[in-house]
Amino acid sequence: MSRPDPTSLYSGNIVEFIGEIFERRGADSYLGEQVTMSEHMLQGAKLAEDAGADDHMIAAALLHDIGHYTNEFPEDALEKGINNHHDEAGAAVLAPFFPQVVTDCVKHHVAAKRYLCATDPSYFDRLSPASVHTLNLQGGPMSAEEARAFADNPNLDAIIQVRIWDEEGKVPGMQTPSFSHYAPVLQRVVDAHVRATG
Ligand SMILES: [Fe+2]
Repeated sequence: MSRPDPTSLYSGNIVEFIGEIFERRGADSYLGEQVTMSEHMLQGAKLAEDAGADDHMIAAALLHDIGHYTNEFPEDALEKGINNHHDEAGAAVLAPFFPQVVTDCVKHHVAAKRYLCATDPSYFDRLSPASVHTLNLQGGPMSAEEARAFADNPNLDAIIQVRIWDEEGKVPGMQTPSFSHYAPVLQRVVDAHVRATG
């Protein structure tokens, strides 16, 4: 039996769907941090944009925590729910629409923290207290062997860059554009992916 067309699971288009999630749920607190979820994600996108990053990187920074909202996605969204980890769940709901460099950044943003803690001695000092707390729950710094395997990912540089913006995007009161500013960026990425994958 063929799989259902994932785009048919959404009433409108995926970018509008994500925009509605930002609107309805964006004010949710980002556990233990001084910013809301949407402030955090928009700050990541702005940091990427200010750095001159390309559309893929802006999309990845904006969407890296979308996995906290997978309960908003339709029940049969592909493979969502395989586990409760927000990193993997987020990558799974985005996978039908976004290229792998984006989903890899989403999927591995928690592991990237564990990787950086193992490989960059200065990185740990940049973690917020809440991030240090979750680091311990997430397994602590990677072992040398885990770090070697992680570094094999061809998208490693992108994954690490998004993790750095994730860490930096926790500034109370920082001004950012709204989601609507980034919607055309997401749409370009989705359209190109749909064209490329037919
Ligand atoms: Fe985050």
